[in-house]
Parts: sequence; C-alpha cells; structure tokens
Amino acid sequence: MQYLAAAVFFIIMVFLMSLVWTNSRGAPWVPTSGQVICRMLEMADLRPGEVLYDLGCGDGRVLIAAARRFGARAVGVEVDLSRYLWSLLAVGLRGLRGQVKVIRGDLFAVDLGEADVVFTFLLQDTNERLKAKLRRELRPGTRIVSNIFTFSGFPLAATDEDLHLYLYRMAP
Ligand SMILES: C[S@@+](CC[C@H](N)C(=O)[O-])C[C@H]1O[C@@H](n2cnc3c(N)ncnc32)[C@H](O)[C@@H]1O
Repeated sequence: MQYLAAAVFFIIMVFLMSLVWTNSRGAPWVPTSGQVICRMLEMADLRPGEVLYDLGCGDGRVLIAAARRFGARAVGVEVDLSRYLWSLLAVGLRGLRGQVKVIRGDLFAVDLGEADVVFTFLLQDTNERLKAKLRRELRPGTRIVSNIFTFSGFPLAATDEDLHLYLYRMAP
C-alpha cells in the first residue's frame, strides 16, 4: 500500500513538474476537445492533401483529426518528451505514420514554410513571441487557427465568439 501511494505521489509530482516546465516553454498541456478541434479545422477550411502544423501537439489529437477526418498531412511539434512519445504511439496505433509526422523539439526552431494551416493553443504572450516567426516563414494565404488566444494585429478572417476561436489568413 505504501509503495502504491509513493508511486502515485511520484507520478503526480512528475506531471505537475512537466506542466510547470512546459508552461515556461510556451504553454502547459491542456487538451482541446474533439468537438472544438473539428470546429477549428472547419473554420480553417482544411482540405485533403494540405499540410497542417500543430505547434505544441500534446497527445497528438489534432494531428489525428486532421489526418483522419480531413485527409490532411499533419506535422506536430512537441517539447515535452512524454507527450511526444504519447503522440507517436497514438499516431502509430492508428496506422497514420505515413500521413503524420511528430517532431520532438521547440516550436520556435521548426521551419513552417510548408504549412497551409497552423493550429495553436498556447498562451497570449507565447502568441506574441510567435508573431515575428509566422510573419517571416508563412506563405501568403496560410491560415492560422488559434484556440482562446489571439494574434493581435494579424488579419482576422473569422471568429467563433462563443468558443473563443480565431482564424487569421496571412496577407498576400
Ligand atoms: C495547451 S497544450 C495544446 C495541445 C494540443 N495542441 C491540443 O490542442 O490539444 C500546449 C502544448 O504545447 C507544448 N509546448 C509548450 N511550449 C512548447 C514549445 N516551446 N515547443 C513545443 N511544444 C511546446 C506543451 O507541452 C503542450 O503539450
């Protein structure tokens, strides 16, 4: 019983420490619900064969939805090792390795030039830091769809006020 309590305590501590660490890197892990993911990908008008990037892909659920439901190619970037491995496993178990790539690393270090759609669920100050990179690397017409947090000054194409979703389209 004591061993079980110690193991549970250890797991909780590791989880909390990883939340604090990922928060300092860009955002803690808070998953987007399946319903909201679909709404966001519909807002972005993600089409078969297009390339979606999820910056901070968590457990890979956005990548899986993009590939399975929308027929897109998806690339996820995840800084946290446990969630990176979880994403790889989730993608592999669904037989999507040919369609989905997961990169372990910092989203600020990954080139976004081939993206058609960029999905974000980060934090407001992380979005602010990300703006210069998006301006530099995204092609004209690339869509950015953001959960909760905005990209102030970017051309807003649509919003869902109820769900706090924001769609931007890079200017030509
Ligand atoms: C709020 S969660 C969103 C997860 C997923 N996109 C979703 O919507 O379900 C943010 C994720 O970004 C990851 N993250 C935070 N900073 C990062 C960074 N600098 N580079 C890559 N991933 C990062 C966190 O580990 C976490 O999994």
